[in-house]
Amino acid sequence: MSRMEVKMKTGQRVRVSEFAENPLEGVDKFLRIEEQVAPNPATLNAHDVIIEVKSAAVGWVDLLMTSGQYQHQPPLPYTPGLEYSGVIAWVGADVDDKFANVGDRVLVDGFVTGPRSPGEYQQYGGFATYAVAPINAIRKIPSGFSFDQACNLLGSYETAYHCLITCGQLQAGETVLIHGASGATGLAAVHIAKLVGATVIATGRSDKKLQVVKEQGADHIINCKSEDQKSGVRRFREEVKALTGGRGVDMVYDGVGGDISLESMRCVSFGARFLVVGWASTPFVAKGKGQRGAPNANMLPTNLIMMKGLKVLGCPTVISTQHDASIRPERLQKIMQWVEAGQLKPYISHTFPLSEIKSAMKSKWAGDVIGGCVVHPGASS
Ligand SMILES: NC(=O)c1ccc[n+]([C@@H]2O[C@H](COP(=O)([O-])OP(=O)(O)OC[C@H]3O[C@@H](n4cnc5c(N)ncnc54)[C@H](OP(=O)(O)O)[C@@H]3O)[C@@H](O)[C@H]2O)c1
Repeated sequence: MSRMEVKMKTGQRVRVSEFAENPLEGVDKFLRIEEQVAPNPATLNAHDVIIEVKSAAVGWVDLLMTSGQYQHQPPLPYTPGLEYSGVIAWVGADVDDKFANVGDRVLVDGFVTGPRSPGEYQQYGGFATYAVAPINAIRKIPSGFSFDQACNLLGSYETAYHCLITCGQLQAGETVLIHGASGATGLAAVHIAKLVGATVIATGRSDKKLQVVKEQGADHIINCKSEDQKSGVRRFREEVKALTGGRGVDMVYDGVGGDISLESMRCVSFGARFLVVGWASTPFVAKGKGQRGAPNANMLPTNLIMMKGLKVLGCPTVISTQHDASIRPERLQKIMQWVEAGQLKPYISHTFPLSEIKSAMKSKWAGDVIGGCVVHPGASS
């Protein structure tokens, strides 16, 4: 085998041909698996590498993108899979062997390559046997990490760090209420909040999933599922008050939105920080089919916000980093420090072969998953 190449064969890739009205329609109607001819090195840049993908994370953003609701729209058709990991199968002539060699186990940086990246690499998502990336998008997989863990590292933990630390300035000894705690970014937030010495109250709709969230570090869990089915969540302000000695929490990490946002504002201390992370419970607030606008935008109560002296902080990780790239190095350094110290490991509950991509995406959409959901384009990782 040469330093620069291993023999590549024909593989498979997922393609999205059209933006749908909503992600479920996108998965059912406009997403299909097709044969993938291995990328031809003669057509690539000298600073490129080809990766044989072993694992790709199935993220919420991968779902939103199928309907064009996400802030960034790759040109159609595209291969989804923002974050993936695998083995280098070819390196371009200008790639220094200090940085990458054929056979290296690597993960990619979704800011620089894949469907969310700005340039020519948007066409190469991780739901495929092969992907092409520029060398500056490649990172070695941390020792002790599986391919599955590697593709669930940057997106979720960078989001949790950006929200809790960069925006929220979470401090040791504070209490944070984390909604959607069983999700990819929510569970990462539980891990990071514990690492900085905060107390975590985690909410969710399933006792079984919440038990795992507790095993993963949450101090307290609250099942907020509505009993009467009339509203999205049941009242839980008394429980939170009881757990905080009547004060209420110092911070809310809200990845769920809708009814739970409102209930949260009744169990905060004066001057608390309210982090708007996402709205998993109201995914139809924005228009589908790649149109722009949010006819059903979520609403927050200004009376509660004022009387509680709440600091409501919008926390879009990618957009904030695009506005100010200087916020990223410290975040990456801290996350990698925790990883290297063995203090931070992504949790993955569901894996699927690529042939079951539709089931994988539907499981994620239905909220079946705890932490990460992964597809394997090739043999198992
Ligand atoms: N701010 C940022 O930079 C950023 C970055 C990435 C993602 N996000 C956003 O953050 C949110 C969560 O992302 P994620 O990747 O953590 O998603 P996820 O893994 O699917 O987790 C979302 C969690 O929300 C809970 N949930 C409550 N009501 C739900 C409903 N009606 N449908 C589905 N889930 C519901 C579920 O927990 P239970 O079943 O336990 O209730 C689920 O585990 C999304 O809105 C996403 O767009 C924001």
